[in-house]
This record gives sequence, structure tokens and C-alpha cells, in this order.
Amino acid sequence: MSVPVIAIDGPSASGKGTVAKQLAQALGFHYLESGALYRLVALASLRAGVGPDDAEGLARLAQLLEVRFAGDRVFLDGADVTLALTDERCGERASRVAPHPAVRRALLERQRAFRQPPGLVADGRDMGTVVFPDAALKVFLTASAEERAQRRYNQLKQKGIHANLRALSRDLAARDARDTTRAVAPLKQAADARVLDCSSRPVDAVVETVLAWWRESRSGTSA
Ligand code: C5P
Repeated sequence: MSVPVIAIDGPSASGKGTVAKQLAQALGFHYLESGALYRLVALASLRAGVGPDDAEGLARLAQLLEVRFAGDRVFLDGADVTLALTDERCGERASRVAPHPAVRRALLERQRAFRQPPGLVADGRDMGTVVFPDAALKVFLTASAEERAQRRYNQLKQKGIHANLRALSRDLAARDARDTTRAVAPLKQAADARVLDCSSRPVDAVVETVLAWWRESRSGTSA
């Protein structure tokens, strides 16, 4: 039997990272934050001076990425880049790097390698549609644009990073537009995904709902 995957997709700042991490913890599964890989390529490109339109240069960077995930920390070429990755410039650049098919191809096997026993929770934009189309459970998390902007604002403030709510809101909208309209692996709900609107719902309640769906899918019953 293949290793089970729970795919959690959704727009920026929908809360999918927090939910996916808690799910992985509750189930004792591995966790893949696929956005971190796109952010890493973005960071590497900013550092190497490779432009967002240089598909070949970006794909090469993606192939050669020397990455290590250790708990909550991420290392690039041996240096801790966890904080740098949360910078909005990195997220913005990531969404300009992500539309290139060659970059996505270069990251595909890296993502699939996270599928290890006893299971994997993976979050991103195309987990259920492209990377793990055979996922045992696919969830599409949404939240209102206002709530997502506020969530990202709070996250950044907590980390001591200065942010402006209006500008954040504008940037998130631009990023969503790029993610949903790109030709390759756009952000969209898989046909067999279950949709969950997290607006005004505490994270614990969202996690409980997904866990209930998971148990249901395991017992072979459907709702
Ligand atoms: O999830 P996060 O906001 O960190 O992702 C940053 C960017 O990386 C997204 O805006 C998107 O363009 C890209 N991405 C993607 N496919 C994924 C995960 C992230 O294209 N599976």
C-alpha cells in the first residue's frame, strides 16, 4: 500500500501552514511546506542576481538547491534562512518564480521525496492537483481576503517585521491573481477536494474538522 498523503491547498495566508503542521503533529506524519521550496528558489535568485524571467537560470538554481529542513528551521547552503524566507519580498518573488514550468519540474521530485511512512501532510497550491494527485484526502482551505491580510499582518508583527496592512492586502491580491491565472499548475481546487472556509474559525476547530474527514476516509465511509 502506498504511503498516505493529506493535501492541503489554498491561497496565501489562508492558514493552511498552521493547519497542516498541527495535523501532521496529531497524526505523527511528515510535513511538507511546499511554498518554502519556491521561497528558497526566490531567495537564492535574489542572492545570485538571477532575474525572475530567467527560466533557465532559475531552474538551475532549483535543481542545485542545497536545502535542509530541521524542525522549524530551514537551511540554505548550510546557513539558517528561516527568517529571510518569511520576508514578503521573498513571497512576492516566489510567485514570480513559480510560473516557470522548468522550475516546477525541478522541484517536483524533491517534493515527492517527502512521502515517507507513516504518512505525509503537504501544503501548497498544487498538492492535490499535480504533486500528489492520488492523495488520500484533499482539502482546499479558503478565508476572506480581509482575514488573510490581517492574519499575515499579525504573523509578521509577531516576528518583529514591520508591515502595512493596506500594502499587504494589495500584495496578497496581486499574488493570488498570479497564482490562479498562471498556465502551469495554477491554484485551483482539485475536483475531489473538500472545501473548508476558515474565516472566523479558530485553527483548532479547522484541524478537528480535517481530522474527522481523515478518520472518515480511513473507515471507508463518506459524508
Ligand atoms: O505558500 P507560500 O505563500 O509560502 O508560497 C509562496 C509562493 O510560492 C506562492 O505565492 C506561489 O506562487 C508559490 N507556490 C506554488 N506552488 C506551491 C507552493 C507555493 O506555486 N505548491
